[in-house]
Amino acid sequence: MIDLAALRSFEERLEPWRAGRAGSDVRVLGYGEISTVFALGTDAGVAFKRMPLFSTQEQASEYARSYRWYTGHLREAGLELPEDETAVVSVAGRPVALYIAQRRMPAERFCHTLIHQLEAPACRRLFERIAERLSCVWAFNSRRRPGVELAIDGQISNWVYLEDGRLLFVDTSTPMFRLDGVEQLDPELFLASAPGFLRWLLRLAFLDEVMSRYYEPRRVYMDLAANLCKEGRQDLVEEALSVVNRFLPSGQRLGAHEVRTYYSSDKVIWSAFLATRRLDRWVKTRVFRRRYEFVLPGRITR
Ligand SMILES: Nc1ncnc2c1ncn2[C@@H]1O[C@H](COP(=O)(O)OP(=O)(O)OP(=O)(O)O)[C@@H](O)[C@H]1O
Ligand SMILES: [Mg+2]
Repeated sequence: MIDLAALRSFEERLEPWRAGRAGSDVRVLGYGEISTVFALGTDAGVAFKRMPLFSTQEQASEYARSYRWYTGHLREAGLELPEDETAVVSVAGRPVALYIAQRRMPAERFCHTLIHQLEAPACRRLFERIAERLSCVWAFNSRRRPGVELAIDGQISNWVYLEDGRLLFVDTSTPMFRLDGVEQLDPELFLASAPGFLRWLLRLAFLDEVMSRYYEPRRVYMDLAANLCKEGRQDLVEEALSVVNRFLPSGQRLGAHEVRTYYSSDKVIWSAFLATRRLDRWVKTRVFRRRYEFVLPGRITR
């Protein structure tokens, strides 16, 4: 699936601080906090997730091994993932990048797009399918804990519902899992994409919370429901809650008000974070005339 020479030449030419903006010929399919999803002209059938996080090739290969372990176990738990492959690309004087190549899925079949097209009952069925898939992960965790425990980010934009009825999960680039209760992902990798002047604050205030939220069914379902607000479908929150609440113990059921409050505070945090990243990019590229390795989204309507 990966043409290494083409990928290497892409990485060599890439100017991440300009990618996706007017005048750049690089096509961005999606923006993550730490990964950016690119389309390369050489292979239209593949989505390339770039993670420019590593100081050595060995570190990147280690991450790739964790990635394979994680995706293998997600599949074992009962998720369907697109076919994938990894490659480490190292260009002198820059961070080592890991690319995760994934079979490219049609943009119109992503669930955050589908919820704008389907009628309410079909959206409900979609939420049911997603919630069921997530529950496979919780079931796997309760069978295998404390030896193995998988984290998952259940957001609506991480699921693809194909016309043939298959539901695929794409957001696999952050392999978070615990072995014997110990988190295996180095949290400092999360911080690599944050401005240096913010890292101490993030370490202090957010890191533990972010690292644990994806293991907790209630938080993951909360994220899924709150995500509907971000996608402009607040009207579907109640519908989604009536679905996910069936998967939660009675004492843990989610309410619409709580979801909206959670969404509002999340929005403030992420918008502020993005603003500081833009500032950091400006200082690095304009003031110091250096490279900035991450691709930031343009204005996001929330
Ligand atoms: N295989 C794929 N085919 C086509 N588009 C994709 C594919 N994978 C991701 N995308 C697009 O990129 C977006 C973000 O991808 P993904 O969920 O993998 O990363 P993320 O959530 O941004 O990652 P991060 O964990 O770094 O925050 C998706 O919502 C989708 O629009
Ligand atoms: Mg995602």
